[in-house]
Amino acid sequence: MSSVLTIRGGVPLTGRVTVRGAKNLVPKAMVAALLGNEPSVLRNVPEIKDVEVVTSLLQLHGVTVEKDPISGDLTLDPTNAKTASHTAIDAHAGDSRIPILLCGPLIHAIGEAFIPDLGGCKIGDRPIDYHLNVLRQFGAVVEKRPGGIHISAPGGLKGAKISLPYPSVGATEQVLLSATRAEGITELSGAATEPEVVDLIAVLQKMGAIISVQTDRTIRIEGVPDLGGYNHRALSDRNESASWASAALVTRGDIFVEGATQRDMMTFLNTYRKVGGGMDIGDDGIRFYHKGGKLNPLVLETDVHPGFMTDWQQPLIVALTQSEGVSIVHETVYENRFGFTEALIRMGANIQVHRECLGSVPCRFGQRNFLHSAVISGPAQLTGTDIDVPDLRGGFSHLIAALAANGTSRVTGIDIINRGYERFTEKLAGLGADFDITSTE
Ligand code: EPZ
Repeated sequence: MSSVLTIRGGVPLTGRVTVRGAKNLVPKAMVAALLGNEPSVLRNVPEIKDVEVVTSLLQLHGVTVEKDPISGDLTLDPTNAKTASHTAIDAHAGDSRIPILLCGPLIHAIGEAFIPDLGGCKIGDRPIDYHLNVLRQFGAVVEKRPGGIHISAPGGLKGAKISLPYPSVGATEQVLLSATRAEGITELSGAATEPEVVDLIAVLQKMGAIISVQTDRTIRIEGVPDLGGYNHRALSDRNESASWASAALVTRGDIFVEGATQRDMMTFLNTYRKVGGGMDIGDDGIRFYHKGGKLNPLVLETDVHPGFMTDWQQPLIVALTQSEGVSIVHETVYENRFGFTEALIRMGANIQVHRECLGSVPCRFGQRNFLHSAVISGPAQLTGTDIDVPDLRGGFSHLIAALAANGTSRVTGIDIINRGYERFTEKLAGLGADFDITSTE
């Protein structure tokens, strides 16, 4: 059953939304529970598809997952973990990339793991070579099997000295989830240090892990034989918060985002201020609003933390279509994250994508034929059109463009947005958006 959103644009979004646990932490913390020898409790859990996918994958492997009907808190009990059939894993993995992070915990828990060929957003080919190389360095045997990859470690996982070619979030998490119970010491250099990675370290430390993050992007893990459970409140989703902030600019609205955390959004807030957005930063959230005047163009380059997150650029580009002047966005994390601009151009935005690195430093994608720099000139009047959502963040960007456009837009494929935005249609309605949802067969 899929749904179609018919949006009548031109209505400023005003009001209050609540953002809960981060999509890019909560599923990883759930997987970490497998490493413990007793139940864990995870709080501030959003109702998103990625959590459902990991819940069913864990249940498949004998982990009981109970959800509190009121708070949504999860209690995860790994004490009866068991092997699952490959076909069942494949059927439950969906298009999530999380299954690859089950490897280390499953090897520690039951001696083996099967990872189906992975999905994820269409923003690049999303390879897992870093993950497999890391597992091999821990002593795992990685075998390609029909439909996926089988991983085992007859002698158990051993600590290793690992250096990542790129500060990959997923590969860093792979190391953390494998090393905490591996024999001996692991030293990871070139690690990612995103707030979600640090929150996963906090979860593991609560379980009994010994992990230190050093000043030069090196993470040192001293393996321990056993881990207990954790009781943890997930950090809030800074990507969703940034998306609502951009929505306030695009629709000339005023949105209080309860749960938005200044500490995790500092770079975004600087950029938002430079574009001309208004903000009031409080203890329980941040108010984002359009100040009524012009929006400013800017030159932006995405990077790993503490740089400007790649997940923030798509919704912000919609705001830049309304800035007076020419903006440049150089996407250095993913090679193909501007596909969503095609629909914006059809709506009247003035965007040109280029193969060159239009930023301060050449990146991995320069001269490799990837359209990873965008030039946006505005302000452009957007007009409603038919839109099919390409990926999670691009899809949200299309929604806010349609909400700001003149006329009506018909948006399909919105189920992808449920992967990372909790109850987003309810939130849009609560902010005064004018739309209908119709289900198609
Ligand atoms: C995580 O993806 C997030 N997803 C992404 O958020 C986020 O954009 C990304 O980190 C960067 O911050 C989750 O946490 C579920 P990476 P991940 O490994 O771990 C290349 C969203 O919208 N790479 O840091 O997959 C990769 O192709 C999503 O919420 C390899 O080459 O990101 C990319 O170019 C989108 N080989 C770069 O590294 C590998 O084995 C960064 O990827 C792994 C990654």
